Amino acid sequence: MPKSKSPDSGRANPEANSAPRAAARNTDSGPSQVQPANDPAVLKAVHTGQLAEGMPFNANKAGEHGFDNGLAVQPGITVDAPSRLPTGSTLSEENHSDKTGSVAAEGINWAIESLDRVRVDSSGQVLTTNQGVPIADNQNSLKYGVRGPALLEDFILREKITHFDHERIPERIVHARGSGAHGFFECYDALTDITKAAPFKEAGKVTPVFVRFSTVQGERGSKDTARDVRGFAVKFYTDEGNWDLVGNNMPVFFIQDAMKFPDLVHAVKPEPHHQMPQAASAHDTFWDFVSLMPESTHMLMWAMSDRGIPRSYATMQGFGVHTFRMVNAEGDSVFVKFHWNPVHGTHSLVWDEAVKISGADPDYHRRDLWERIEAGAFPEWELGLQIFTEEQADGFSFDVLDPTKIVPEELVPVRPVGRMVLNRNPDNFFAETEQVAFCAAHIVPGLDFSNDPLLAGRIHSYVDTQISRLGGPNFHEIPINSPLAPVHNNQRDGMHRQAIHRGRVNYEPNSLAGGCPFQAGAAQGFVSVPARIQAKEEQGKVRAKPEKFADHYTQATLFFESQSPVEQAHIAAAFRFELSKVTVPAIRERMVASLRNASESLAAQVAEGLGMAALPAPMPRALDNPPKPEVSRSPPLSLLARPGDGSIKGRKVALLVADGVNGQSAVDVHAMLFAQGAVPRFVAPRIGPVKTADGVAIDADASLENEPGFLFDALVLPDGDEGVRTLSLDGHTMEFIKDQYRHCKTILVLPASVTLLEAAGASATLPSGEADPGVVQGGDVATFIAAMARHRHPERETDPPRV
Ligand code: HEM
Repeated sequence: MPKSKSPDSGRANPEANSAPRAAARNTDSGPSQVQPANDPAVLKAVHTGQLAEGMPFNANKAGEHGFDNGLAVQPGITVDAPSRLPTGSTLSEENHSDKTGSVAAEGINWAIESLDRVRVDSSGQVLTTNQGVPIADNQNSLKYGVRGPALLEDFILREKITHFDHERIPERIVHARGSGAHGFFECYDALTDITKAAPFKEAGKVTPVFVRFSTVQGERGSKDTARDVRGFAVKFYTDEGNWDLVGNNMPVFFIQDAMKFPDLVHAVKPEPHHQMPQAASAHDTFWDFVSLMPESTHMLMWAMSDRGIPRSYATMQGFGVHTFRMVNAEGDSVFVKFHWNPVHGTHSLVWDEAVKISGADPDYHRRDLWERIEAGAFPEWELGLQIFTEEQADGFSFDVLDPTKIVPEELVPVRPVGRMVLNRNPDNFFAETEQVAFCAAHIVPGLDFSNDPLLAGRIHSYVDTQISRLGGPNFHEIPINSPLAPVHNNQRDGMHRQAIHRGRVNYEPNSLAGGCPFQAGAAQGFVSVPARIQAKEEQGKVRAKPEKFADHYTQATLFFESQSPVEQAHIAAAFRFELSKVTVPAIRERMVASLRNASESLAAQVAEGLGMAALPAPMPRALDNPPKPEVSRSPPLSLLARPGDGSIKGRKVALLVADGVNGQSAVDVHAMLFAQGAVPRFVAPRIGPVKTADGVAIDADASLENEPGFLFDALVLPDGDEGVRTLSLDGHTMEFIKDQYRHCKTILVLPASVTLLEAAGASATLPSGEADPGVVQGGDVATFIAAMARHRHPERETDPPRV
């Protein structure tokens, strides 16, 4: 039953003069003096007057002027209210019910807090409509007679269908395809000398995070293994507000100015006339654009390298890309670049593998992330910072505001400052991963932007796009987006508003709410770093780039020269593949002409691969004599420098079995791999029980048909002559082994399977004549595990492949 106060409660003295009480009930005008009376409405008027009197003028006004005041912003002026009456919306707020609840708790916004407030578990519950009406029959629509027409009055059917009709929202303009997970960031040591940002305030401090990984080009349902940049967006729910580090798995970008972003995205997306190709950059418009934008050359090197086809989200680096700032409590700021380094190593696919996976399992990365977390093999990264001063930056041969440039680690080392672990899958993909809204503008006190012109455009773009994607300006109230930090401001209304604000004050300054919510001031609130630009006469309003931005090739060369020979070969092959899909010869030639400025040898390989009779002349450069770079080789840019912790956690291993194999040896290897955190699977001609020669029970949980060889990181070929003979008669087995071998995976060959290896045309000897370290014969599981930790054995590779 609703509990309500009687209408007369509070009217303690009905005999008293009724004039003040009547006056206090007016919602317009009022008496010149409110006479005190023991009546809530009068008391509210009296207390409101006292509250307003407490602020005779805006004492902060004078301090709003001048540069120095701008750096030392004062907190807002506040006055304590004599009671809660003047700040309430209504005298009736104490009339509570199960629905209204009670009076708003002082200073609390219940629209935030943990996701528990919106979790739903229907165990043991009956089915209801969205209005909570129990549904008796969820199988049949309401009809006039069993064979009669359906009736319009069937509000249950109409509610269900109407909701279904509107289940989709617009997909993201870019990064539409993605997967996410919850976790935490833990700071190693306090970084208060550098930043006052909340996650870095003390050693061991833990901040919850939600991370979304994505591809850029493809639509929401596109394949995971496209050659593409991967988004790596981290939302830190800090106790001083949300910080979104919206990065990528490559540390540079294609363009230098936000003005070109729509052009870039239009060029790379499916061509507008026939909407092809899906999730692929290998087409005319992309290469037309980038070959006319030489500043993209460095990024193209990364995108054409194996970084463009990661093995998994868990084995990819992440970068903030732009130069940011960190600011300490004294207001001193430094420049910073953010790096995420995966603890399990940085590993990639090879192209042939990526193409095949996209057919067999378009959800390859999504599945990998989900399965790792469900299995407790939690993906983990170390956060590293490159910290440098503005003076240091001024001395660099490149401009740190240019997002097509890295700061080589030889110049500024990466300092590990914390770790991030993803340990919880979302409960609901749409509510969490699809509705999460990252925004490059979301930073917290202790962080700030640099003047990178690409970053400036991003600061605008994300909120703007989310207003249409998420249906209005209140997307910050969607539970996955709401911060854990308190939210109090005067923003009101808009589509889908959730918060119900108490009181009539929705502006600042005010005296009617005692000045609340009041500005935090410089000591607590966000203050932009003044970031003075050295005054030069020519620095008026202008549309132009800084001079050093014109060096388009030095760091493209640095990247290419820092790769191992096999990585260089993959880059050349990727350019060859992509440009071979371009139908216009002039575009191919233009691109090769540009590549000549980055690497003659790369350009020559690509030209040869494209059947060009002669190399085109090098493309004229925007800057003929760029400053001499500080480093010409940077080994950490090679994947070989990033093997990770040497574990095989999360690696998928196929153990081929068939009727007649030796069961015990297969089961033993399975157990040893499982103990190391790998994911071994028995793969047989069909799923179900396998009749092993020694009677050991094996139940195949995958078949050669439903889980082809390229889906696995490593392979175990069985013992037992009869089983090996059965397998050798199945063409799927041969394809399975060939793919594993061609993709340079580690293969354990138990004794009877030597013939199987030979039948597939795979050799235990490298092209160099040495023994292949990735083909382990004779059942040495420890050697197999150590070899698998290398991920791949590229020494085996030839172009074209031998098998
Ligand atoms: C001016 C340049 C850029 C503009 C205008 C821009 C714009 C956008 C837009 C509109 C979205 C979709 C957001 C949504 O609907 O939720 C998006 C997503 C994203 N962007 Fe950018 N972007 C730019 C450059 C970059 C750069 C340089 C990076 C990497 C450092 C980046 C990383 C991301 C990521 C990771 C996402 C996906 C976020 C998610 O998982 O929801 N963007 N961008």
